[in-house]
Amino acid sequence: MRNVTIDNISDVVIAALGNDITPRHREILTGLIGHAHDFCKETKVTHSEWLQACEFLRRAGDISDENRNEFILISDILGIEVLVDMIDHPVTEGESCSTVLGPFYRENPPVLPNGASIIQKDFPDQETVLVQGRILGTDGQPLAGVTIDVWEDAPNGLYEQQDPDQPDYNLRGRFQTDENGHYAFIGIRPVPYPIPYDGAAGELLNYMGHHPWRPGHIHFMITKDGYRPLISQIFDSETKFLDNDSVFAVKEDLIGKLKKTSSGSKTDYVMDFDFVLKREAVAIAAE
Ligand code: BEZ
Ligand code: FE
Repeated sequence: MRNVTIDNISDVVIAALGNDITPRHREILTGLIGHAHDFCKETKVTHSEWLQACEFLRRAGDISDENRNEFILISDILGIEVLVDMIDHPVTEGESCSTVLGPFYRENPPVLPNGASIIQKDFPDQETVLVQGRILGTDGQPLAGVTIDVWEDAPNGLYEQQDPDQPDYNLRGRFQTDENGHYAFIGIRPVPYPIPYDGAAGELLNYMGHHPWRPGHIHFMITKDGYRPLISQIFDSETKFLDNDSVFAVKEDLIGKLKKTSSGSKTDYVMDFDFVLKREAVAIAAE
């Protein structure tokens, strides 16, 4: 094609896709090219704006490394990670909602017995909470031997890998449900924190006129063979930013209530929260 026009450019680029690419790659690229071209046409993007966008992406790449992925943050701020998660994990059988993973998960957290504390360093203003509950199947039966990774930010609003003054793996743990499907751990009442805004993600927030804050939450990754892995968060019902999370990850069903404990209790609060897992389709098919 030697004469591309505004009207034929999308078809020309799509026609250039190789014959040997997979059907899924063809589907994704056809959608991407078509929608990106339509976006440029609809908004009449200027050349100068396009170059600014490319420079923005270059800065996002420059600040990214194996510990920081600016593109995840950008996708979160635009509501894309939460959208993709809802598309990929539709709630079909009454299982618990998932929500965004975020950039702060670390593999292989300390393996701890049920009821143990994930707090390795005390902060003067911290409030402690016993988080406990059961992991159930969609039939309501408790599930034993479920692995539960939890992680949260410290009272200074930082995850341990962001803060050289916190011990390695502070506020992280891996637990397993007992024969009654029960799990329990002691953590800190989660506090709101701003997502990192010192890079391209912060520029985008400014451009959007939006703030970087997330409501107080505790992350969960819940896995058991034969069940769909669940990546989710519990939000404190009294935290700020529940209605304007910078990454749009709040779901009503994921809001938990912290109840004040009586004096002499081991923690300041207790929060009961059950999760429901659904069977993996391949596991059902194999029966
Ligand atoms: C988080 O909850 O850890 C998070 C999620 C999205 C972006 C930044 C942080
Ligand atoms: Fe978080």
